[in-house]
Amino acid sequence: MYQFIPLLALLPSLAQAQVTATFPNGPTNPDRPEFYPIGSYVNSTSESRLITLNGVDDFCLWGPPDQSGAAENEIGNVEPIVVAYCTKPRNGARLIPDGAITAAHFIKTPNYVQIYGFWDGTKVGIVDGDAGGELDPHGAENLGNPIGGNVTSNVGGSDVFYEEWMSFISYDQFCLRVCTAETGNVTAALQCEHELDIMGCQFVMAIEDFYQSNNTFTECEGESAAPPGLYPQPDGSYSTFRQRYTGTYTADGTVGMFTVGQTVTPSSVAFYPATSNCKTYSTISNGINTSDWAVTATPSVLVGGSTQAGSVGTTSQSRPSGASAAASTSGASGSASASASASRSGASGSTSASASGSSTQSNANASGSNSAAKLTVNTGSTNLLLGAGVAVVGMLVGAVSLL
Ligand SMILES: *[C@@H]1O[C@H](CO)[C@@H](O)[C@H](O)[C@H]1NC(C)=O
Ligand SMILES: *[C@@H]1O[C@H](CO)[C@@H](O)[C@H](O)[C@H]1NC(C)=O
Ligand SMILES: *[C@@H]1O[C@H](CO)[C@@H](O)[C@H](O)[C@H]1NC(C)=O
Ligand SMILES: *[C@@H]1O[C@H](CO)[C@@H](O)[C@H](O)[C@H]1NC(C)=O
Ligand SMILES: *[C@@H]1O[C@H](CO)[C@@H](O)[C@H](O)[C@H]1NC(C)=O
Ligand SMILES: *[C@@H]1O[C@H](CO)[C@@H](O)[C@H](O)[C@H]1NC(C)=O
Repeated sequence: MYQFIPLLALLPSLAQAQVTATFPNGPTNPDRPEFYPIGSYVNSTSESRLITLNGVDDFCLWGPPDQSGAAENEIGNVEPIVVAYCTKPRNGARLIPDGAITAAHFIKTPNYVQIYGFWDGTKVGIVDGDAGGELDPHGAENLGNPIGGNVTSNVGGSDVFYEEWMSFISYDQFCLRVCTAETGNVTAALQCEHELDIMGCQFVMAIEDFYQSNNTFTECEGESAAPPGLYPQPDGSYSTFRQRYTGTYTADGTVGMFTVGQTVTPSSVAFYPATSNCKTYSTISNGINTSDWAVTATPSVLVGGSTQAGSVGTTSQSRPSGASAAASTSGASGSASASASASRSGASGSTSASASGSSTQSNANASGSNSAAKLTVNTGSTNLLLGAGVAVVGMLVGAVSLL
């Protein structure tokens, strides 16, 4: 696949882009990713869009601002305005109620940190059955999707805002990758590639046992996956899979159409990265009584197999009036979700949907909608080209930068 070397050379990423964020923080975000102080109340109407990924029980996900569960709140419709929901009281954000998350798997690699798992997203207002969407720091106006969305991690020892991340959210599953470092051949933009947005968690985040991992909680170290959609070749180059879609662009007053990607999706990722030094936990919890949302104690976090106290300030705040109304648990809807993803075994090799239309390709249905990558772990060598489906689009990939 020699011909792809020039293609990769075109990617701005290879210039060793800075991995820490350099542009302004979102206007509704706190300046720093801190725990709520003791004496305060979790703000259940918060519009904070600051998410954090620190560990197996200390992370945030995206959810709709309106928690009514009404159909218009499908993630695909509200991507620009989703807000942060966190497993701990932090970031001035809303709280994910205990019990909502039924599995969480945290992996720290040389290039990124990642969390994935299963949840009852209806507990934060995700529409029951919503196949969800893909969130990232780009979006139609390159202001972030959501607009003003930002991400931190403390895996390097202190809180850092990172520029590149990607996240898939649906009513029953989630995943989030934050790119924290670059190696010579893999940039943060490439490793947090955000355009395979109908491919789902298992494929994009290279999770071998995703659909077997419900109801467990782990923290591991691991090697880095190949960047999403890239297939390292024996000669050191890559072949590239790009999700097929068409879009329009405007240049010098003329409007044109372009198409990117293949119609056939590959059956698997390049390889499933090895993990090591794993710790298992029985569950995670937030320490907040959601009948009044009061922050009464120092949050603890799970790290390295044990519980550690977080660092937190104190304050004195009177209980906000509407505080107990939000984040309602939506009755019995949780149980209705049980069988859905189990049946979502994609026919591998089937056509991938084409997200047509605007340049906000991220409005495509995302996390749940596919499983081209599901199942069939490759028997033989993991690093080989996986059939015609991954043949490359060559120069068309250049059009991706229009987004
Ligand atoms: C906030 O997000 C925007 C859009 O993704 C990004 O350009 C900016 O650098 C981020 N700022 C911080 C402080 O993280
Ligand atoms: C809760 O969040 C909303 C929206 O961000 C904000 O207007 C309000 O002031 C916050 N309430 C408190 C008590 O901080
Ligand atoms: C996502 O897919 C679901 C069903 O799979 C559909 O009902 C919904 O309209 C789709 N949403 C978007 C934004 O395409
Ligand atoms: C990047 O280069 C290193 C060392 O040359 C190699 O081991 C690794 O496989 C490459 N990364 C990917 C994703 O192929
Ligand atoms: C939560 O708060 C309510 C109201 O203050 C109280 O009745 C209940 O016992 C508390 N639950 C726990 C587990 O502390
Ligand atoms: C995960 O397990 C919970 C039970 O803890 C179940 O309610 C839920 O449906 C499962 N999710 C999936 C996607 O299978």
